Amino acid sequence: MKPRQKIDPATITDMAELQRLLEPTGGKGIRVDRDDLIASMKYRIKGQDPAITQMANRVFAGYAKQERRQPVATFMLVGPPGTGKTESAKALAEYLFKSEKDLVTLSCADFKNPGEAMTKLIGSGAAYKGSEQGGMLTRPMFGKKQRVVLFDEIEKANPEIYDVFLTMLQDGYVKEQGNGKAADFTHAVVILTSNLDHEKCGEIAAAFEDPEARTRAYKEHFNARGFARPEILDRIPDVVYFAPLATEVMAEVAVQKLIRLVQDYHMVPNRIEPLAAFKLIEAIQGSGIRMLEQTATARLGNDLAHLANDRVERIDIVYREGRLQAVAAAA
Ligand SMILES: Nc1ncnc2c1ncn2[C@@H]1O[C@H](COP(=O)(O)OP(=O)(O)O)[C@@H](O)[C@H]1O
Ligand SMILES: [Mg+2]
Repeated sequence: MKPRQKIDPATITDMAELQRLLEPTGGKGIRVDRDDLIASMKYRIKGQDPAITQMANRVFAGYAKQERRQPVATFMLVGPPGTGKTESAKALAEYLFKSEKDLVTLSCADFKNPGEAMTKLIGSGAAYKGSEQGGMLTRPMFGKKQRVVLFDEIEKANPEIYDVFLTMLQDGYVKEQGNGKAADFTHAVVILTSNLDHEKCGEIAAAFEDPEARTRAYKEHFNARGFARPEILDRIPDVVYFAPLATEVMAEVAVQKLIRLVQDYHMVPNRIEPLAAFKLIEAIQGSGIRMLEQTATARLGNDLAHLANDRVERIDIVYREGRLQAVAAAA
């Protein structure tokens, strides 16, 4: 087949989605096609191939094991902010369960107050208004066990919450405070993320290539830093490093964001000029990749609104006259 002249990114998205829908899942368990998982995650997470492979291998092996007394897989993702750690948890939930809704996100900054942190997480022993709702960690698991559970930016939590990892990671359950009801985590993938000591984490990644040796070195470092008790770190089989993004990778992410932005206006992205992507990256220098979406919207929102209003269907994103522009694609 002759390669198409113009790649229509909207079509690619649909095909990936279609492929995922065709992927069989077992009745009780989930059947993971390792290569498809890797391809799907790479499509969404750019420039982190070793990290994705490391995660996919574990998830694949975890689901293949039918009798589990522990979570399917447990990861700690480390590295600088804005490298795709949180995004990977979302991508994994979407791949495995076809929906990001099955991701339980616990933003650890919400669990920094002593006493309150545990109550929020696993419920309260005392009967008070709202206590019947149970904990933020346990309650969703009673409804559905097949989940990705994300403890995001774990270093921000009060260390008292680390206690939940003991039974969760070792025995696959967490008991609610008060009623003693056990939430089952043997069908869950547990992900912790941390931006802690990311420079040191980079040095360790450079010194150890083998994932196992690397994980061991990370644990030694975090132990020495008193980041978590050794018995908790012992229960995390994989520490995965997310490297800083090269400029070309950031530009790729910028293209992704621009495609999504155009689609948000229900128009078709026809062409994203590489220069436009690089200029967008230039615009966020220093403020971090998290500002991509906001900056793109600020610079292109007006153009896109007008084009959508004029019922234009296909859009080019270009850099002209010293600014980012959205224009109607040539017919
Ligand atoms: N490697 C990457 N590939 C694709 N998008 C990325 C990548 N890294 C970051 N992003 C984008 O930047 C934003 C912040 O990334 P996030 O995963 O939250 O970073 P962190 O590593 O701090 O958790 C997300 O919206 C995500 O889309
Ligand atoms: Mg994050």
